Amino acid sequence: MASFDPNRFVLEHDQATPKEILRAAYQAFGELTLSFSGAEDVVLIDLALKVAPKEAVHVFALDTGRLHPETYAFIERVREHYGIAIDVRFPDPEAVQALVGEKGLFSFYRDGHQECCGIRKVAPLRARLAGLPMWVTGQRRDQSPGTRSSLQIAEHDHGFGSEASPLYKINPLTHWSSEEVWTYIRMFDVPYNPLHERGFVSIGCEPCTRPTLPGQHEREGRWWWEEQGGKECGLHATNLPSSAPR
Ligand code: ADX
Ligand code: SF4
Repeated sequence: MASFDPNRFVLEHDQATPKEILRAAYQAFGELTLSFSGAEDVVLIDLALKVAPKEAVHVFALDTGRLHPETYAFIERVREHYGIAIDVRFPDPEAVQALVGEKGLFSFYRDGHQECCGIRKVAPLRARLAGLPMWVTGQRRDQSPGTRSSLQIAEHDHGFGSEASPLYKINPLTHWSSEEVWTYIRMFDVPYNPLHERGFVSIGCEPCTRPTLPGQHEREGRWWWEEQGGKECGLHATNLPSSAPR
């Protein structure tokens, strides 16, 4: 692949639809690797399969070991519905065992979520992305005014790539609102996680996610015992102002 210029990609495709952005990304990279959380980012799978052949669409999900039963069932349903492989990645058992052995199963309520997320999400993600040129995420600006308001449709991912192996992150849903995502889900009969019917808007791990009330922002249902504002688990740490490029 010729070198990819994220700024140029943004200039050329910023006003494009998510489907067009995915098509352009497929043309640039010859493949699409999608990170699927088991929530409404299922629309990316639906869209990607409309613009690229199945063999070129790679989907992975990070199983932290703490997802809701509904989310596990949903990941399986998506696999069957689209007839695709979903590469489910697990954390290093020794690292999980050491954390739980030392601090118990709910250390995040006392010590903050970063340590547990680091072991259960970030390290497996780093391993999955090693050597890849690109990954696609379901991030949107409206998901988190505190950390995602300046999200771009294409970014140089300094957090997981390296100088020798640059990595680019494509965020096709950047400019879509939650409402637009849900219009798409309904219009095209896309399967969705049943937790959404029970007041869950943003879905992460079971102990760290709760439904939100009318008028609450969706991010308030994640790590609610922590300060609002800087809530990122480390998958998208480059959204945080303090994150220095490496
Ligand atoms: S998080 O950083 O707070 O956990 P969020 O739940 O908003 O992320 O999801 C944003 C995007 O990150 C998802 O659309 C997906 O691309 C990726 N992502 C989050 N959690 C996972 C997961 N468990 N497995 C794979 N990708 C994930
Ligand atoms: Fe651990 Fe909660 Fe992070 Fe999941 S969201 S990895 S349970 S701290």
